[in-house]
Amino acid sequence: MLCDDFKLRRMPAYTVVGTQWGDEGKGKVIDVLAPQADYIVRFQGGNNAGHTVVAKGEKFVLHLLPSGILHPNAQCIIGPGVVLDPKVLIEELEALTAKGICGKNLWISDRAHLIMPYHIKLDEAKEKKRQKKIGTTRRGIGPCYEDKVSRCGIRVADWIDEARFSKLLRENLGEKNSLLERVYAESPLDFDEIHAEYRVYAAELKHRVIDSVKVLNGAIRSGKTVLFEGAQALMLDIDYGTYPYVTASSPSTGGVSVGTGVPPGLLDRQVGVMKAYCTRVGEGPFVTELMNSTAEVIRKRGGEFGATTGRPRRCGWLDLIAAKYACAINGITDIALTKLDVLSGFDTLKVCVGYQIHGTPCDTVPANIEDLYRAVPIYEELPGWSQDIATITRYEALPESCKAYLQFIETFTETPIAMVSVGVDRSQNIIRTKDLK
Ligand code: GDP
Ligand code: IMO
Ligand code: MG
Repeated sequence: MLCDDFKLRRMPAYTVVGTQWGDEGKGKVIDVLAPQADYIVRFQGGNNAGHTVVAKGEKFVLHLLPSGILHPNAQCIIGPGVVLDPKVLIEELEALTAKGICGKNLWISDRAHLIMPYHIKLDEAKEKKRQKKIGTTRRGIGPCYEDKVSRCGIRVADWIDEARFSKLLRENLGEKNSLLERVYAESPLDFDEIHAEYRVYAAELKHRVIDSVKVLNGAIRSGKTVLFEGAQALMLDIDYGTYPYVTASSPSTGGVSVGTGVPPGLLDRQVGVMKAYCTRVGEGPFVTELMNSTAEVIRKRGGEFGATTGRPRRCGWLDLIAAKYACAINGITDIALTKLDVLSGFDTLKVCVGYQIHGTPCDTVPANIEDLYRAVPIYEELPGWSQDIATITRYEALPESCKAYLQFIETFTETPIAMVSVGVDRSQNIIRTKDLK
């Protein structure tokens, strides 16, 4: 049964995270909730994200900007836990301006870390050298987080302080150039070029830099509604994902406090975005992956091609073991189930309800990556539905087998589904609208 309310009004701080391997439709869900929010905040990741919003037939793909940027009434913040490529940000803002969206509501935390050209070059060089590739987005995300943790990163506050930026850049570049040349046989980067380029970016973005920790804590305490926008997803989480085939940050709800400075006690509801089936871009284990024509059908119907890199996404049946694991770790209070329309037309649908590893049943995601590679899915087969459901806006109007599919997910994950998305447009949703204010 769909749960009763999916409104932001009653609770001040909502989190929206991915529960699978990314690309679940987080951008769309944020866009649906955004009109009710005062602040929309990215708390981790960087422009490895690709969040698609389709509004009045126009498609926007956002990488670094919070998806709420299309709503001028919401203040959008790139939070402390994000890694920021200023060149990409300026390009994104320019692209939006060209489409008539001014982006004046964008703010940048002074604590966010900067992605530098050597991070991008190292990401590429490391990936090239790896025997077992991760399939990163090559946007410099991993190397930037590496520098953050090894305490040599350059933060936004350092970048807008000219003397400090020059010093840190010189120190870092000396080390990175020897790495590039000696370990990876790559050409070195030039200090003056990077310095000049990043001075221009700083001049352009400086007026957007704020102490977001103070702003956000103050906002929540004064009753404003804040929406935290996750990028990537739990199965790509540095701690709980399919390590080492993961991203370098914490896309789980636990990452919100770390990545924004807002204490856990102020975070109320945790929305987990879940696709009605599974996809994955990049390398790594994927227990329910399909290598047959069904995968082709899903990829084609679902438009499963990366929003950031254009790579075809690997496709498979819904993995409820991974879903339950993600709901538990994130403390998901509401599932937003997306792309249910893509599953119309199959006679039967499979959902994975267990793994068989070395002949032994397993009911959770194992830490050992080799075990996960060997895991054989145990499927439950459910009846499909033939109708096109893309125009349905009421739960009651869904075909019975479609409702049974939703109920199976709710029962297995022990989590209510609050919203079902049945198409790309912001209007194509089934939401219980009972107003509980
Ligand atoms: P995100 O990274 O989680 O924001 O997801 P992406 O934007 O990378 O990928 C989701 C894709 O599915 C986008 O192209 C969306 O426009 C599309 N999408 C979202 N919800 C639905 C839905 O309910 N049905 C269909 N058919 N497409 C959807
Ligand atoms: P959104 O926010 C899907 C994957 C990459 C690679 C791994 C590590 O759109 O859901 P990285 O560049 O982060 O070091 O790559 O993580 N990856 C994503 N996959 N959606 C994303 O973001 C992703 N961001 C990173 O493909 O496997
Ligand atoms: Mg995406």
